Parts: sequence; structure tokens; C-alpha cells
Amino acid sequence: MQIAFSKTALPKTGAVIIPVFEDDDGALKAVDAAAGGALAKAAASAAFKAKKDHALDIVAPRGLDNSRVLLIGAGKAKEFKTLDAEALGGAGAARLLATREKAASISLQGFAAPGVEAHELAARIAFGALMRAYRFDKYRTKLEKDQKPALAKITIHTASAKAKTTFADLQKIADGVFLTRDLVSEPPNVLYPESFAARCLKLESLGVKVTVLGVKEMTKLGMGSLLGVGQGSAKESKLVAMEWMGGKKGESPIAFVGKGVTFDTGGISLKPGPGMEDMKWDMGGAGAVTGAIAALAGRKAKANVVGVIGLVENMPDGNAQRPGDITKSMSGQTIEILNTDAEGRLVLADAIWWAQETYKPKAVVDLATLTGAIIISLSHEFAGLFTENDKLAGELMKAGEATGDLLWRMPLIKAYYDMIKSDVADIKNIAGRDGGSSTAAAFIGKFVKEGQAWAHLDIAGMAWNGKDKPICPKGGSGYGVRLLDEWVRANYEG
Ligand code: BES
Ligand code: MN
Ligand code: ZN
Repeated sequence: MQIAFSKTALPKTGAVIIPVFEDDDGALKAVDAAAGGALAKAAASAAFKAKKDHALDIVAPRGLDNSRVLLIGAGKAKEFKTLDAEALGGAGAARLLATREKAASISLQGFAAPGVEAHELAARIAFGALMRAYRFDKYRTKLEKDQKPALAKITIHTASAKAKTTFADLQKIADGVFLTRDLVSEPPNVLYPESFAARCLKLESLGVKVTVLGVKEMTKLGMGSLLGVGQGSAKESKLVAMEWMGGKKGESPIAFVGKGVTFDTGGISLKPGPGMEDMKWDMGGAGAVTGAIAALAGRKAKANVVGVIGLVENMPDGNAQRPGDITKSMSGQTIEILNTDAEGRLVLADAIWWAQETYKPKAVVDLATLTGAIIISLSHEFAGLFTENDKLAGELMKAGEATGDLLWRMPLIKAYYDMIKSDVADIKNIAGRDGGSSTAAAFIGKFVKEGQAWAHLDIAGMAWNGKDKPICPKGGSGYGVRLLDEWVRANYEG
């Protein structure tokens, strides 16, 4: 989707989108003058009240040469916030993507929200439209021309000169989100540890330093926990580090660590067949970390940030890890494997330890599609936030609210650590069903050094959208990219 900004008058042909407030129809009036009141008449006939999420498509409006005028309800003006602007742009794009219109203009004349500056308003509407227009259809070779969306360009007509530069920043964030959506959407025969690492290497063109470790290097480092998960796979396990050092030279970075299980069959503790295909997106944490690094490097963020992702495929095999096995992690702690399907924490154990040893990070945030239990708790509305660090929790919650990548804080206390004690090793990888997300978080916490600022985000319910959302079509969501970008922006760049 091409996005443009213009200060000129609206084009006389093609499709026009007009946002309208419930309590202020200034934008409608601005265009309706040329239509001799036909738009207001159509709105009245259809009982269009401009409530949030309502829309009215006026095809071939009387008095205008435009092919259509799409009115989008924006709710009450004084309640309108930046995320509403994004949703509005998304709603407009979604409607027109379902038509044969090739281009559209959004008219912002007479549309002002007291809570959102003009440049921000225009840029966020554009961003929402761009985010919603994302498609992943590279494997659909038989799509007829008229089955593909025609809409290729959206022009936002605004008087704000700053809108374009505000949007340029958001465009880089969209690039990061789209990279994550692509990674999450790719089938597991195409995206496996080595091919995932190859995509990470492409970030070098943005100035990111990328290091890839293979089985040989990881064996030397003693990463028995991560390697145990991948040992039943024909695909070689990898660990990738992506460094974006845009901040002060020599200042220690913050670290994002991602679970990158490119396919999770459960291993010998095999998952049931129905729905197993979903486990192609069990690399959603690694995908979010990769997309966040792309966004930060793309917009040249003034911060030192490193992304570390553990990439493995969890398969049943003659060489696979068994329930009952005991492995030794890089930290030296031994782990009793009681369920080979609790593999994400095993991958993170070594990835987090390595990140701390290698970078001495100021803070560590890990992201993982870790437990089904978090979906039972929070459904698909929030990711679970686990940390004993209240300051970090506050910062992350705030970044979530600002971006719509919402978080809900979950408990992490000593009792959960006690539940993963093993009779035969230092710890065990499961503790039964009760409090499954918290005991999983505690397991990871066992690999966080004393005094290290750390938060764990369980994104199992968020990486994939089962249905269309305002600024995200059904499929990979890109959850986490905006959250991490915003957290860095608000706390490490000034
Ligand atoms: N990748 C899954 C978690 C998951 C489940 C993500 C559903 C998204 C949707 C994880 O590796 C897993 O299998 N967890 C087990 C843990 C259990 C064996 C303790 C689970 O949640 O059932
Ligand atoms: Mn699993
Ligand atoms: Zn998994």
C-alpha cells in the first residue's frame, strides 16, 4: 500500500473517505458543500449517526463525480485518541479493500480532535490504513485478478506539513510489524532455524550486526537445555544475536530474548493432531524480537538494543529427547525433562543465560508463546506480564497502553519457584496444570542472574489473530513489535 500526504483540494474523481464525529460533522460539511447537501441527506436517510465503528458507503453521490464517498464514524470528538485514529484508518482501508477502487483520498478538512494534534491525527490514520492493508498471499498462485485487492494508494489530505515526517517514523514501525507477521505466517517447511537465521542476516542492510551460532558453538558453550529440544529434528538448531547499537558507545544494551520454536509437535510428549498446524507460530516471540530490532534500526533509534533468539524445531524422533531425561543448561543447573512439550522454557533458559553472559544487559525482556494456560487466563486480549520489578512492570504496561499491545500483570512469587523443584535434578520442566503460566515464568526466572532487571511476556494468546481486527487482518499479528519499540522510545532514548 502506497501512502501519500497532500495539501491540495480533494480529487473530483475516485473514492473519498470522510471521518465524521457524532458531535461534529465539520468534515462532512466541508465536502458536502460541493454536493449540494446530498451527503447529509444520504446520512440522514440511512440514519447514520457517526458512532465509532459505523460506516456508510455512498456510491455515486449526487452532485459529485467521485465514485463513492465513505463516511466513517469516529464517535465523540473529545474522547478520540491516537489509537482511535489508527482504528479509523484501518476501518476505511478495510472497506475499500473490499471494492474495486484503485486509489482513495481521506479528507481531513474540518476534522479536528482536541486530544490529538493535527500531524499525529493524519499520520496515525495513515498508519492504521497501512497496517490493515497487510496481506500474506505469496503462496496463493491461482488468485484471479479480481480476487486480489485493487486498492494500491491512499492519499491523506491534510493541512499539516508535519504529518509526513511523523508518518515516516511510523512507516519504519510498520516495516518491523510486517516482518514479524511474515515470519509468523510462513509455513514450517519454509521457516526453520537456518532459514529464519538467514532472514535475520538481511537486517545487516539496516546496520544491525548479526551473529549466528550453530550446534557446534552451542555445544561448546554447554547449552544442553536448548540443544535437547532440537535434537530430534533434522533441522540444525541456531541461536541468533542481532545488535542495534544506536545509543552511546560502550553503554550496555537492553536485551530482548525470543522463543523461536519454528514448529512445536510436542516432541515425544506429542500434541494431539487437530490444531497442531497452529504450532508453526510457536516462534512468535522470536518473530517479535526480530521485527522490533528491524523497527528500531529502521528508525535509527538512539539506544543500544540486542535481540537474542533461540531457534529450534521440536520433533518426535529416534534421537529425540525423552520424558525422564536430565539435561545440563549453560548456567550449570540440571533439568529433569518431564514433558517434552514444555520446550519453550528450555530454549529460553540457555538463550537468556547467554544474553546475560555476553552483554551484561541493563534489562532483559523475553517474549514467548509459552503456555496454553495464559490463553485460559487472559484469552486473546492481553499478553501476560511476569516480573518482580515494579518499575519495569509500570514502564511496560504504559508502553502497552500507548500502542494497543496490551499487557496484564500476572503473579510471580517464591511459591511458583518451589513448585518446579525436582527430586532428581536441580529443577523440573513442568509442575502440573495449576498456575501453569506462573510456574513456566518461574522456570525462566531460574536462569536470570541475581539483581538482573527482567520481565517475561507470555504472548501465546496474542501472536496470531483468529479474526480480523481494526488494524490487523486475520493471521499473524506482529504483537510485541510496537510494545518493545515504544518501551525503548519512552525509557532509553532521551
Ligand atoms: N507452544 C506451546 C504453548 C501454546 C499452546 C502456544 C497453545 C499457543 C497456543 C508450549 O510449548 C506448550 O506446549 N506448552 C504446554 C506446557 C505444558 C506441557 C506444561 C501447554 O501449555 O500445554
Ligand atoms: Mn510445547
Ligand atoms: Zn511451544
